[in-house]
Amino acid sequence: MKVLIIGSGGREHALLKKVVVSPKVKKIYCVPGSSALEETAECVFIPPDNIGMLVDFAKHHKIDLTIVGPELPLTKGIVDAFEAEQLKIFGPSRDASQLEGSKVFCKQFCQRHGIPTAGYREFEDFASAKEYLLSGLGYPVVIKTDGLAAGKGVSIVQGPDEGLKIINDMMVYEKFGEAGRRIIVEEFLRGAEASFIVVTDGSRFVSFPAAQDHKAVFDGDVGPNTGGMGAYAPARVFDEKIRQQVIATIIQPTIDGMRKDNKPYVGFLYAGLMILPNGTAKLLEYNCRMGDPEAEVLLPLLKSDFIELIEHALSGKLGGYEPQFESSSAVCVVMASGGYPGHFKKGLRITGLESVVDPLVTVFHSGTKQTGNGYVTVGGRVLTVSALGHDLPAAIDRAYGAVSHISWDGVHYRKDIGKKGM
Ligand SMILES: Nc1ncnc2c1ncn2[C@@H]1O[C@H](COP(=O)(O)OP(=O)(O)O)[C@@H](O)[C@H]1O
Ligand SMILES: [Mg+2]
Repeated sequence: MKVLIIGSGGREHALLKKVVVSPKVKKIYCVPGSSALEETAECVFIPPDNIGMLVDFAKHHKIDLTIVGPELPLTKGIVDAFEAEQLKIFGPSRDASQLEGSKVFCKQFCQRHGIPTAGYREFEDFASAKEYLLSGLGYPVVIKTDGLAAGKGVSIVQGPDEGLKIINDMMVYEKFGEAGRRIIVEEFLRGAEASFIVVTDGSRFVSFPAAQDHKAVFDGDVGPNTGGMGAYAPARVFDEKIRQQVIATIIQPTIDGMRKDNKPYVGFLYAGLMILPNGTAKLLEYNCRMGDPEAEVLLPLLKSDFIELIEHALSGKLGGYEPQFESSSAVCVVMASGGYPGHFKKGLRITGLESVVDPLVTVFHSGTKQTGNGYVTVGGRVLTVSALGHDLPAAIDRAYGAVSHISWDGVHYRKDIGKKGM
């Protein structure tokens, strides 16, 4: 079959590595792709949110299956547009992807279906949001834009002055455009975060091992948040008791609730969870896709045929299907440009890629470009070095062993990825 992957980063590189080993697959296209993806697939430049052009491309090239990496095309309705043309595509519809696309939608949904999440209030005008922040509530609180903000729309604020500045940026200066016209102010939860990602057919689901991302830019979870500086799986905090609770109170009620609300959800469903000190989990947010960097640890752990898994989900036949996973641990370390998530230089030559020869290590490309002179940096997150190990310490050693070979001017990475799992 012919497969089309939408996206261009490390997550899509991890998807591609799984797709290419499937015996069912004969040809792979990536849109817009990257130099690194071009090593395995034919890349075609179409903006990933130009849905009309993507439909035309898939029709013209007789694509048998499309897999969507990032959230934007999903929230813009790529799945609806493909399905209207009888093109097979894996991901939630426009309505269903509102679970990620609108935090207000997600919160209202959770409330309606009794799904445990932080308490919140929603605001559409600055004056009422301001009045609320000054009403003597307990701080910290978490302020979030309703819409997609590329991971920059969430602020944890310690007091009313800081809060007023944030809502001013969001609602008055419209720093996040349309996404910040509506906001939520949410109760701050303390605990350990985990990412629990399932594949659902609209009724049933199968799950990946739980992972933990490392959002802050510096060791010890210090510094500003990033798109993610590394991840590991399985996550030790996510024990069997928590898993059962999350399935019973969050995942299954969500899948059932979406179906009852006439927005059946098919695709990856990513629950961002806070595991509270009392050993119960609450939902922080949903994402309507695989995570990045979670994909770079979870997909290497998947032993079963990835295409078969997707086909089961698309035909509503996940019941009785059990994907197999490696019993190993996986760790990935994101190598970033110096200065990221702030300003950073581009076009710096990357050295040492050829020294990574360990078959249990994969270097996924998140922001690179091939030039006459080898790969250079073009993004904030540049490479995601992922390793398997018989246990977590072995995977950590192997990942950092590979990282030590790779370099460029100003490269920055965290040295403590996976430590919280030991
Ligand atoms: N209610 C909360 N309590 C504590 N921390 C939170 C809360 N909500 C979000 N966070 C922190 O902010 C991060 C980003 O929030 P999230 O809701 O996942 O938004 P997004 O990923 O869309 O930016 C979370 O990963 C978590 O670290
Ligand atoms: Mg998040």
